[in-house]
Amino acid sequence: MKILVIGGGGREHALVWKLKQSARVEKIWCTPGNGGIAGDAECFAVDAGDVAALVALAERIAPDLTVVGPELPLVNGISDAFAQRKWPIVGPSRKAAQLEGSKIFSKEFLLRHNIPTAKMYGAYDSASDAYAALDGVDWPLVIKADGLCAGKGVVLAQNAAEARQFLKSAMEKNELGPGGRRVMLEETLEGDELSFIILTDGERYAPMVPTRDHKRVFDGNRGPNTGGMGAYSSDELLPAGLRDTVISTIVEPTLKGLAADGIGYQGFLYVGLMLTKEGPKVLEFNCRLGDPEAQAIVARMDFDLSEVLADVAAARLDPAKLRWKAGASVCLVLASGGYPGKFEVGKRIEGLTTTIGDNGVEVFQAGTKREGDSIHTSGGRVLGVTAAGHSLEAALTLAYQAAQKIHFEGMHYRKDIGAHSGRLKAAGD
Ligand SMILES: Nc1ncnc2c1ncn2[C@@H]1O[C@H](COP(=O)(O)OP(=O)(O)O)[C@@H](O)[C@H]1O
Ligand SMILES: [Mg+2]
Repeated sequence: MKILVIGGGGREHALVWKLKQSARVEKIWCTPGNGGIAGDAECFAVDAGDVAALVALAERIAPDLTVVGPELPLVNGISDAFAQRKWPIVGPSRKAAQLEGSKIFSKEFLLRHNIPTAKMYGAYDSASDAYAALDGVDWPLVIKADGLCAGKGVVLAQNAAEARQFLKSAMEKNELGPGGRRVMLEETLEGDELSFIILTDGERYAPMVPTRDHKRVFDGNRGPNTGGMGAYSSDELLPAGLRDTVISTIVEPTLKGLAADGIGYQGFLYVGLMLTKEGPKVLEFNCRLGDPEAQAIVARMDFDLSEVLADVAAARLDPAKLRWKAGASVCLVLASGGYPGKFEVGKRIEGLTTTIGDNGVEVFQAGTKREGDSIHTSGGRVLGVTAAGHSLEAALTLAYQAAQKIHFEGMHYRKDIGAHSGRLKAAGD
């Protein structure tokens, strides 16, 4: 099998690494890839959001299977373009990807199908209407930009002044880009967050192991939000009873609702949950694997990913094929100095080779570039040190030991990944 992977972050490195282990995989291409992926796959410099260029590339190299990592190509319709040509691809259609591409579309879907979620006060495309709506809400209030905003589209406003400030920057000053022109106001939920990701072929589905990510840049969930500073997976995150509730009240109604609405969904579906006192509720959908959740998930896969993904593309997923390593896994993100604010790139990374072969540890690369024999930083999130173990403690010990061997100027990472499992967290943590 020859496989094309689209994307160039840590998630895609993890996918490439896992696919490469299969005896049936003969060749892997990746676009645009990164410094680490370049060691495992042949990379092309095609932008992951450019559907026409991706179609032209696939025409030329003719992959047996294409796997899409990030949301942008999906929202831009890559899956539709491939389906039209009968080229096997894993990832939802443009219409189905609206579950992530439009938070208002996704909220209306949830409400239409009676799936538990935060109450919506309203959706607005004029700033004056949004300001007026602030009179009738409870505080704190969650405000969400409708479209893709690279993790900057949601705010928890404590009062009307904070709310007005966000609405002004999104709707009047266009500071979030086109994704911020429409907004919705919703009720604030309290509880622990959990990422529940499934893989579906439109009819059958198989859950991934549960994960939790850490969005804030500093220990103790302080500081600004990032793309994710780490994630961990452990079966203890989701006791059997709760898992059954998530499946019966959320996952299955979601798949039934999609079918009833005539939206075929194929690929990974990420369900962001808040475990509230009243039960699990949907915070959001993503139409892909999370990053860094994917790294922690891949570390626990005990099956041939290429076979399962080919099955999904051919609409014959067999959920029994997905087997998982018992225990736990963790991914620690090593970030550039200054990230998520302004950061410098081009720093030489030392110590990468000393971690190779460490038992149960893989270093997935994200913002890196290969220069001759060395690897340099090229992005905010640089590396994802990933480990699996028989317990969360064991996985954490392995990952933190490996992280200590790696160095680049300005490097920083959280020291408390996986440490606050069980504790109630505030929204946005
Ligand atoms: N209704 C809500 N109540 C409390 N916190 C929320 C709510 N909606 C979102 N959040 C917080 O904001 C974060 C980002 O919101 P989310 O809907 O996941 O959007 P995105 O990931 O696109 O920024 C969530 O992970 C959660 O911490
Ligand atoms: Mg989110």
